[in-house]
Amino acid sequence: MTFDEFVKIRDYIYRKSGIFLGDNKQYYVEKRVRDRMAATGHQSFQSYFLSLRFESSNKEWQELVNALTVNETYFFREYPQLKCFAEEVIPSILEKKEVQGQTPIKLKIWSAGCSTGEEPYTLAIILEEMTAGVVSAPVTFEIHATDINTDVLGRAKTRLYSQRSVKDVPHEYMDKYFRRRGQMYELSPHLGNYIKFYQLNLLDSTAMERMENFDAIFCRNVLIYFDDNSRREVALYFHAALAEGGYIFLGHSESMSRVTPVFKMVRLKNAIIYQK
Ligand SMILES: C[S@@+](CC[C@H](N)C(=O)[O-])C[C@H]1O[C@@H](n2cnc3c(N)ncnc32)[C@H](O)[C@@H]1O
Repeated sequence: MTFDEFVKIRDYIYRKSGIFLGDNKQYYVEKRVRDRMAATGHQSFQSYFLSLRFESSNKEWQELVNALTVNETYFFREYPQLKCFAEEVIPSILEKKEVQGQTPIKLKIWSAGCSTGEEPYTLAIILEEMTAGVVSAPVTFEIHATDINTDVLGRAKTRLYSQRSVKDVPHEYMDKYFRRRGQMYELSPHLGNYIKFYQLNLLDSTAMERMENFDAIFCRNVLIYFDDNSRREVALYFHAALAEGGYIFLGHSESMSRVTPVFKMVRLKNAIIYQK
């Protein structure tokens, strides 16, 4: 692949997904494009790229995106943030809803860029553990778990995880929520009932504008693959998707203040988060 060809396809990927692949990613992209060319029988980059751009089904685009995204994740990733969600944010949302007279109290949470499911399932465990007994009204919750990559969503639904994925799960939750299946660990099926997994591209304006009324959005280690323009676009969709006073959790190395001033930065005991 020549540098010009690389630039053509990486610009196309950027426009469609927000994922920005710098010049140093030429080898990474070339390897995956070559694999896709072999799978689809294209002999030249030119013919592959033409058929990718002009296909009506989006099928090859999906295959390419599935091959290109970085899906690294594990249960209870960035523990201090989760502690902040569990001990500070959940009680504060519940108390506010109780004062407003909501009953039953409903929590709506979004894991945006959920990969193979470790993040939304972690949130389900935390919500199940931490919503009991905080307020007198009954509490229900739902988690929307979305990703651009359809392969990872399929894997999330199997609820089967490797030792590496579960390495940071606290012992008591390991015993309570997982069962050993050979080399793998199976997560308790009932946790799946709290979660709606579906494909969503964070840059798809139609889909993003349908997202509404979330109490908290987790978008951790996703926008690091974007540039500032696409980050800003996504941040504004998130702003619109949050309920008044709703929270955004980014990865610990990520900052929203650099991207847009629309959120208030909140320093809590265990983490810095952003609020509408
Ligand atoms: C590194 S994983 C992060 C998983 C999890 N949030 C965590 O922190 O462990 C990044 C995920 O973002 C997804 N992603 C990348 N670009 C996206 C886009 N435009 N729309 C939706 N998801 C996207 C990838 O497919 C990948 O699964």
